[in-house]
Amino acid sequence: MNTKPKGTYDILPEEVGKWQKLEDLIRKVCKLYNYQEIRTPIFESFDVFHRDQNDSSDMVTKETYDFLDRSDRKITLRPEGTAGVIRAYIENKLYVSNPVSKLYYLGPMFRYERPQKGRYRQFHQFGIEAIGSKSPLIDVETIALAKSILSGLGITDIKVKINSLGDSESRENYKKVLVNYFSNYQDCMCEDCKTRLQKNPLRILDCKIDRGQDFFIKAPKIKDYLNEESKNRFNEVLKALDGLNINYEVDDNLVRGLDYYSHTVFEIEANITELGNQNVLCAGGRYDSLVKDLGGPDTPGIGLAFGIERLLIATDLIGKKLNKLENNHVYLITLGPKAQLEGFKILNTLRLGGLRCEMDYLNGSLKSQFKKADNLNSLFTCILGDEELENFKINIKDNTTDVQETIGLYDVYKYVLNKLMANNKCAKCKESGDKNETND
Ligand code: HAM
Repeated sequence: MNTKPKGTYDILPEEVGKWQKLEDLIRKVCKLYNYQEIRTPIFESFDVFHRDQNDSSDMVTKETYDFLDRSDRKITLRPEGTAGVIRAYIENKLYVSNPVSKLYYLGPMFRYERPQKGRYRQFHQFGIEAIGSKSPLIDVETIALAKSILSGLGITDIKVKINSLGDSESRENYKKVLVNYFSNYQDCMCEDCKTRLQKNPLRILDCKIDRGQDFFIKAPKIKDYLNEESKNRFNEVLKALDGLNINYEVDDNLVRGLDYYSHTVFEIEANITELGNQNVLCAGGRYDSLVKDLGGPDTPGIGLAFGIERLLIATDLIGKKLNKLENNHVYLITLGPKAQLEGFKILNTLRLGGLRCEMDYLNGSLKSQFKKADNLNSLFTCILGDEELENFKINIKDNTTDVQETIGLYDVYKYVLNKLMANNKCAKCKESGDKNETND
């Protein structure tokens, strides 16, 4: 028997409801903030992700799935959404129609990581990218959107960690200071950090191995090396966060795992012990040179991405139920082949009228059919046997009141609709009446 590849998993039908609820919430919040969906390929040219020889991020150096296609093109399965979205932004000249493009995406990403709970080799992200504005307010808007998603899920015990990596001048100065400083401690540094010292010293600050050591804690902080412009910009971001009453913690060591960031970087952690190291639900930052690096016009951008699996795990852990089974409207129990064929036709008509319906296709016993109706949370159960059929009648039971009636064979649709309207359970009313919807 073949089994799933390491680090992947199946999303089974009973789980899919949760994903759909979360996706609905995401789409609703994106609409509020005027983000539009973009769908880009799951694989891109190798160069989209491997832009810079000096990129020392684990994701680019160790984790991408790279392969040659049958025509020897170098291909990479996307490890994240940002670079592909920017490639699409440039290739389709989205900047021509929109000075600020606000885009969102949902879909699978691939990283060759050590799998554990909340960390997979195929995982899913929801991400947003706001391309075209340098305003500090848009940095804060992305964080506000992230908070709206989290509060829609009931995840309110969170920590927003934020830092500024400044502009390129500030970063270059700071890198020199870091190289000088860490060069004195090479003997105590892990192998990866020794390489980072040569390639991108900033990323030493992201090291999980050396983090607790004295020399690491005492390392120079970037805030002391930001030039005036970068410092002012960061202060404006913090002021706007205060303006929206968003609590945050400035974290001097937050540099993020990807090499394209400048100015604002942030992560949102959930305060849920069981999540362990996988408690970072969302992360992002500004990337003011990425569009240019990928061959586009000099255009700033900022974005973030959530790990969908982590959001769902966190939602489960706080006890919020996303996958409440939607009611089936009508379950049809048939007794005998004639009733089955006529029932099949009636069911089809009910479905054309917008009702969710099901019947038995296994020729099961009366008992097993009642059980199936129950398992599907059916609001009504119809029972059709030969005797009813001969009299053009059908039995229908309202499962919310247990009242059973015999009605005309072709009156089921009218009967169910009247009852649903009376109880305000009409599927159509629910779909159009967003006002009454909750996130449950
Ligand atoms: P990232 O920090 O690499 O950023 O990933 C964002 C989020 O994806 C993480 O906070 C985590 O929730 C989730 N995630 C990452 N790797 C895994 C994994 N192996 N398994 C499960 N979940 C995972 C980015 O990807 C940037 N593109 C974010 C961004 C958008 N920055 C600017 N725009």
